[in-house]
Amino acid sequence: MLVSAKEMLIKARDGKYAVGQFNINNLEWTKAILLTAQENNSPVILGVSEGAGKYMGGYHAVVGMVNGLIKDLNITVPVATHLDHGSYEGVFKTIEAGFSSVMFDGSHYPIAENIEKTKEIVRIAAEKGLSVEAEVGSIGGEEDGVVGGGEIADPAECKQIADLGVTMLAAGIGNIHGKYPANWKGLDFDTLAKIKAVVGDMPLVLHGGTGIPADMIQKAISLGVAKINVNTECQLAFAEATRKYIESGKDLQGKGFDPRKLLAPGFEAIKATVKEKMELFGSVNKA
Ligand code: 13P
Repeated sequence: MLVSAKEMLIKARDGKYAVGQFNINNLEWTKAILLTAQENNSPVILGVSEGAGKYMGGYHAVVGMVNGLIKDLNITVPVATHLDHGSYEGVFKTIEAGFSSVMFDGSHYPIAENIEKTKEIVRIAAEKGLSVEAEVGSIGGEEDGVVGGGEIADPAECKQIADLGVTMLAAGIGNIHGKYPANWKGLDFDTLAKIKAVVGDMPLVLHGGTGIPADMIQKAISLGVAKINVNTECQLAFAEATRKYIESGKDLQGKGFDPRKLLAPGFEAIKATVKEKMELFGSVNKA
């Protein structure tokens, strides 16, 4: 069932668990994530970066694929189709195409401009019943060729953005996209607690879920994180399973070259990764 992310995040915040956002890249990814959510009776957010949207042919293609799978596979758990790190233009394009949720990442603008643009997007999304994620303090690491510096968000700026009526707020607390370097200092829980203290009920979003140790995930949830984004970990799992299949020569046996066989181990690997995260985040049986 396609819904905005609002209700699932309020339930997660109140129930002290987090809903996973898993980024999609193609049919295999989308089907694997939707089936895993259904099997585990978990709400789920499908993340679509602008680069991934383009790769899949465009936002209408994404909406058609996701809505078609929800119907054909009888997916009854709550599902949100969410633009990840959207530009100002990207937000309007995905709303027009039929996404149920958008992230406007204005973290690279001066705070006054971030506020102004976020405010406008909140107004338009509210008219359509869509959820909005905003960001303060850019998340480090590399995503779609954009390299962020890994800032620690300013709690006062977080409050200014939260007060605009966004559904959820992403704040940099030392988290980065992709693999964490060996010398990573870990999440800044002091800042997270300070942000939570000023934003009150606002569900917080933790980006860069790949490779954050379980104890840090649990502590972040206890401090108000209600949505956790995972992308790279599914990519790594898919690539490893596909490599094993090819390295063991399976594509050369019988009809092992058939894409339905060739991509099956990667598909199963994504399912296993998503299930593990849903268990860790506590969203199993919370649909
Ligand atoms: P990872 O790729 O590090 O899991 O981060 C995902 C993310 O935050 C998407 O916005």
